[in-house]
Amino acid sequence: MTKKALVIGASGLVGSSLSRLLFDDETYDKIHILVRKSTNWIHDKLVEHVIDFEQLPFSSGIFQVDSIFCCLGTTINKAKTKEAFYRVDHDYVLDAGKLTAENNAKFLVISSMGANPKSMFFYSRVKGEMEQDLQKLKLPSLHIFRPSLLLGDRSEFRLSERLAAPFSRWFLKGPLKKYKPNQAQSVAQAMIHVSKEETLGFHIYDSTQIEKIAKRTEVTPKS
Ligand SMILES: NC(=O)c1ccc[n+]([C@@H]2O[C@H](COP(=O)([O-])OP(=O)(O)OC[C@H]3O[C@@H](n4cnc5c(N)ncnc54)[C@H](OP(=O)(O)O)[C@@H]3O)[C@@H](O)[C@H]2O)c1
Repeated sequence: MTKKALVIGASGLVGSSLSRLLFDDETYDKIHILVRKSTNWIHDKLVEHVIDFEQLPFSSGIFQVDSIFCCLGTTINKAKTKEAFYRVDHDYVLDAGKLTAENNAKFLVISSMGANPKSMFFYSRVKGEMEQDLQKLKLPSLHIFRPSLLLGDRSEFRLSERLAAPFSRWFLKGPLKKYKPNQAQSVAQAMIHVSKEETLGFHIYDSTQIEKIAKRTEVTPKS
């Protein structure tokens, strides 16, 4: 039986990679995407929903799918204020989690390495609070992915990602392995792989687990 997916934040680095993989995956026959401006993508399986994310709590109908992939996120640079950052990386994700709970779907969400509600770093604290509040929703199947720095083909310039890329091979072994950057595509592959398993309950995947799962992923090619 085929499944239906919803990708929130489909225009982002991971979200766009994930959407492309889903288009080619026979397990999924309908890919809904939730974005704030049109991607102008064209695909038989694609159903695009352009919304103002402040209206997210009123979008329940869109959440009537099997798997919800939440790839939302911003940066302090883009958001400008801590409040605006929190709104996207915590509140919008929680809104999506609540609608997922109403619809009994599987929720797969990207957090970050170091997520911790008690962290002294704002970014890690927000991610930690987001995870903690999602857990309180008692979703039937909640999967949190905590990648390290993400690498991929990003049009916008991000200094940390540009600096880290050439050094990433140094983190191949030993205790530093978990700091090795993750390719955005590996995160997307791991999320899709997990979405197809019949696993219930709450699960966290760190950067090394993400790579392991991504390696054993076989996207079912189109016939
Ligand atoms: N970058 C890293 O190194 C890194 C490391 C660890 C974890 N993460 C986390 O991984 C996740 C995915 O990262 P990414 O690099 O793929 O993100 P990204 O490329 O910045 O994409 C983020 C997505 O969120 C959407 N978004 C941002 N602000 C929004 C708003 N106000 N309203 C509606 N949508 C909004 C973007 O839409 P638009 O295209 O319209 O802006 C885009 O679809 C994020 O949660 C991030 O914090 C990132």
